[in-house]
Amino acid sequence: MSVGAVVLAAGQGTRMRSSTPKVLHPLAGRSMLGWVLAALGDLSLDRAVVVVGHGAEDVEATLPDGVSAAVQHEQRGTGHAAAVGLRALDGACDTVLILCGDTPLLTAEAVQGLLDAQRADGAAATVATAHLDDAGAYGRVVRSGDGRVERIVEARDATPEELALTEFNAGLYAADAAGLLDALSGVGSSNAQGEFYLPDALPLLDGPVGAMTLDDPTEVLGVNTRVELAACEAVLRGRLREELMLGGVSMPDPERVYVDVDARVGPDTVLWPGVHLRGDTQVGDNCEIGPDVVLTDSTVGSGSRVVAAHIDDSEVGEGCEVGPYARLRPGCRLRDGSKAGTYVEMKKADVGEGAKVPHLSYVGDVDIGPGSNIGAGNITANYDGFQKHRTVIGARVKTGSDCVFVAPVTVGDDTMTGAGSIITDDVPDGALAIARARQKNIEGFTERAAAKAREAMEQSQGGTTK
Ligand code: UD1
Ligand code: CA
Repeated sequence: MSVGAVVLAAGQGTRMRSSTPKVLHPLAGRSMLGWVLAALGDLSLDRAVVVVGHGAEDVEATLPDGVSAAVQHEQRGTGHAAAVGLRALDGACDTVLILCGDTPLLTAEAVQGLLDAQRADGAAATVATAHLDDAGAYGRVVRSGDGRVERIVEARDATPEELALTEFNAGLYAADAAGLLDALSGVGSSNAQGEFYLPDALPLLDGPVGAMTLDDPTEVLGVNTRVELAACEAVLRGRLREELMLGGVSMPDPERVYVDVDARVGPDTVLWPGVHLRGDTQVGDNCEIGPDVVLTDSTVGSGSRVVAAHIDDSEVGEGCEVGPYARLRPGCRLRDGSKAGTYVEMKKADVGEGAKVPHLSYVGDVDIGPGSNIGAGNITANYDGFQKHRTVIGARVKTGSDCVFVAPVTVGDDTMTGAGSIITDDVPDGALAIARARQKNIEGFTERAAAKAREAMEQSQGGTTK
């Protein structure tokens, strides 16, 4: 038996009130449609087609290899969309799975369960259902006397008695592909929305329709509004956190930790509240991350400590210290045992092993050699108003407080710079560079100045009384 999947994703998602196609809204670092396709990816399907329409090009651009798009030019309802998808499958599969692109909580197990039920039952179609005391806007499942699915009625078209039914259509179906395409051709559009409804094809099938009822309605929650988007994202984030905790990651207050689907974290690492691991981020073992850290597309090596920091597209080695209040902009590499401390901003900085930038500095477009220590308040002046230039600081360098390095400039190994120096020329290995005005002491200045002021005051007072 060959199995194909059709994912319906052409709708605009009017209720999202967004210029982004509904199925491209992200949840925990992956689009709504991406979650549905990921659940399918875990099954071995012969073909997968996504029916696109609104924002077709944008949606198509996100499809993984092996998944093709079929365009539904006009959104005339789920039944019409399913027919577009089935035609694209072009008779290649005997059994078809129809899914909605707006049910991101769906698991591979649920889809597999539906396929198994369809096989075991020999039904013309099987629909996934679940129960909710108030099934809201979902289509209600009307069963016949023998327990088969007689029909599905949309909430907008339902009678009060039908609305009171708790069993709803999850929008996930398995069917005989040829039979379903046939039945769809008989579906009309005389309903509240004037659309061709996929569920209306079920009574037209040549054979009984079964149901697979899920214990947990959460799995098939559909997203139609941003309120539902947030609710689904919370569930997905909860699943991701649970997976990490079971893998040995500690979270003293898990609800306040936000981990994207592609993030990886090693065992015995602690994620404190306010931690966001975004995109392709990896954290090693035995780290302490947070409170209040945003890591985006970045790596943190084992045994490192990061507190109150924003790190973007950068690499932090093992045993490093970052923050509090540090910002690493793209292209930084902190080698093992190095430090970016309090109120430090870095950009394209390569910080050598064990080197430290502890306080109040901006270092950008810079190489800092191993074992060097950058004094408080140092700045690399990397921009001349036209171009960016690099500063190269050697190994075991100690710079004084409040130094400015006017790039391009090279500071040799084992050098020192005096506090307050503006370094514009290269410094040879082993030298001390001092670049500031010499101090001049003016002896007795204060007393002379005070005497002068007294004299002036006496004169002006004398002037007014006379
Ligand atoms: C649909 C079902 C409803 C079920 C619910 C489950 C119908 C008529 N109703 O309602 O019984 O309880 O799903 O979540 O099927 N789409 C297209 N082209 C179209 C119209 C829709 O591709 O012309 C896509 C949408 O992008 C969406 C999916 O089909 O991904 C479902 O459409 P939607 O309008 O959200 O249907 P619901 O009202 O949720
Ligand atoms: Ca929907």
